[in-house]
Amino acid sequence: MSQTPHNQTPYVDRDAHFAKLEELAGVAVSIETLFKTEPNRIDNFVMREGPLRADFSKQQISAAARDALLSMAAGCQLDEWRAKLFAGETVNTSEDRAVLHMALRGVGGTHDIQKDVEAMRKKIVKFANRIRKDGVFKNIVHIGIGGSDLGPRLVADAFEASAEQALTLRFAENVDGASVNDAVKGLDPKETLAIVVSKSFGTQETKMNGNAVRAWLTEALGDKAGDHMLAVTANRDGAQEFGIPASQIFDFWDWVGGRYSVWSAVGLSLQIAYGPKVFAEFLKGAKRMDEHFRDQPLAENLPVMLAMVGVWNRNALGFTSQAVIPYARRLRKFSAFLQQLEMESNGKRITRDGKEAGLTCPIIWGDEGTNGQHAFFQWLHQGTPGAPVDFVAVLKDHEDRADHHRALLANCFAQSEALMLGKPEWKVREDLGERDDVDTLAPQKTFPGNRPSTTITLDELSPFALGHLIALYEHKVFVQGVIWNVNSFDQWGVELGKVLATTILSEIENGDAGDHDASTAALMALLK
Ligand code: F6P
Repeated sequence: MSQTPHNQTPYVDRDAHFAKLEELAGVAVSIETLFKTEPNRIDNFVMREGPLRADFSKQQISAAARDALLSMAAGCQLDEWRAKLFAGETVNTSEDRAVLHMALRGVGGTHDIQKDVEAMRKKIVKFANRIRKDGVFKNIVHIGIGGSDLGPRLVADAFEASAEQALTLRFAENVDGASVNDAVKGLDPKETLAIVVSKSFGTQETKMNGNAVRAWLTEALGDKAGDHMLAVTANRDGAQEFGIPASQIFDFWDWVGGRYSVWSAVGLSLQIAYGPKVFAEFLKGAKRMDEHFRDQPLAENLPVMLAMVGVWNRNALGFTSQAVIPYARRLRKFSAFLQQLEMESNGKRITRDGKEAGLTCPIIWGDEGTNGQHAFFQWLHQGTPGAPVDFVAVLKDHEDRADHHRALLANCFAQSEALMLGKPEWKVREDLGERDDVDTLAPQKTFPGNRPSTTITLDELSPFALGHLIALYEHKVFVQGVIWNVNSFDQWGVELGKVLATTILSEIENGDAGDHDASTAALMALLK
C-alpha cells in the first residue's frame, strides 16, 4: 500500500504522457482513414459489458494513440488509485473522506459499512412497501436540489420505460417559487407525502421549499402536517432542527457524495413510487459495472476507455466541450445529470497538491435526440470547433411504436456517420453543377467531417441497464480525476456564490445597500 500522505500524490511524470499524446495528435489521420488502415478497428474499439455496448471506433484515435492513453492511465497509477477507492481509503483528501457510493450497491466498504447499508435498505423497503400497500398517500413531493434532485429525476423518467409509477411523483428544487408552486399544484395535502432530501440539511433552496410545503400541508391539515413529512440526510441533527422527528428521518453517510447519492436513501421517493424490486435491479446494474471497473485490466475496462477517450479529446485534440445526446426521451435528463456529475467533480483548476492542473473537465452539455438535430446540430456539423459527442441509444422499443423507434435509431446512427464522413467540397460542387454562385455556395454547403463520436447502446432501458450506464459514467469521472490529478469529490467552487447570496439576501431584506461593486449595487437598487 502507498506510503504517500493523503494530501500528497506520488510523483508521476504527467508532462511526458501529455507530450506523447500531443505528438500523436500532431500526426493524427482522419477517422475515415483509420477505418481503412486498421482492419480490426471494430474489434479493437467496441466493448461490451452486460446490456451495454460502447463503440469508440468513430473517435479520432489510432491504435497507437489508444496504447499511449492506456500507458498514461497506468503511468498515472490508476491501478493503485482504483484499489484505494475500493478499499475505502481517504480519496476525497480535501474533505478527509472515503468515497464509497459503490458500497450502496454492495461493493466495497467495511463489514460495518455494509451492515449499516443493509439495515437502511431493509428499513426503506419495509417503509416503501407499507406506503404502497396502505394507499393513504397518492402523491410524493420530492424536495431537494443538485445531487439530491438530478439523480432521482433522471431515474424516475427512465424507470417509466419499464415500470409502473404507483404514486404521483413531483419534484421541487429551484428556490424560484414557481418550482414549489408547480410541485403541489392540484394535489390534495391529505394524500401527499413530502420528502425533504438534503445531505447537508443546510441548503437554502431545499429548506425554503421544505418550509413552503410544510405551510401548504399545515394550512389543510393543522397539527397532522408533521406526519406528512420525511427527511433524507447525512445530517440528522440538522433535519431535527428543521422540525422533522427522528423517527421520520432516513440516513445516509458522509462517504456518499451528493452527486453519487441516488443509490442511497436519496432514492426513497423512487422506491415508494416504483417499488423496491425495481430499485433493487437498478442497484444490481450498477454493482455489475462496479465489479467490471474494479476487476478488469485497464485495456478491457469500459470506464477507463470512456475516460481516456475524453482525455484524448480534451488534452490532445483540444476540444473544450463534450456533448451527450441520448436518443431516448426517457433519458432526456441524462446530460443535465452528467453536467453535475462531471463538472462538479472535475471542473477544477488546481491539483490535489495545490498546483495548476492545466486542461481538465470540458463543458458537458446536450439534449435529447432527435430534438437537438433541429437546434444545435448545425453547430456540431459545421461550427468551430464542434464537439465530440456521446450518443446513447436503446435498442428495444419500450413504447410499442416500432416505426417511431426505427426512425429514432436511424437518426442516431446517421448523425454519427455524418459527423465522421462529412460532405467534401468536390462532392458539393458536383451536386450543385454549373452555376454562377458555386464558389461562394459550395464552401458553405461543405461538411468538414472527421468529427468524433462514441455510440453507447443499451439492449433495453431496464432499471438494471440504467444502473449500469450511470455507474459507467461515475467511474469515468474517477479515472479522469486520477489523470488530471484533481480531487473529484469536493466542490469548493460552489461556496462563494452561496455566501454572497446569503449576504445580499439579508441586505435586501433589511433595506441595507451593503458594500458592493457598482453593477451589483445597481441591481440591488432595482428591488427598492
Ligand atoms: O451546490 C452544490 C451542492 O453542494 C451539491 O454538491 C449538492 O448535490 C447540492 O448542493 C445539494 O446539497 P444538499 O444535498 O446538501 O442539500
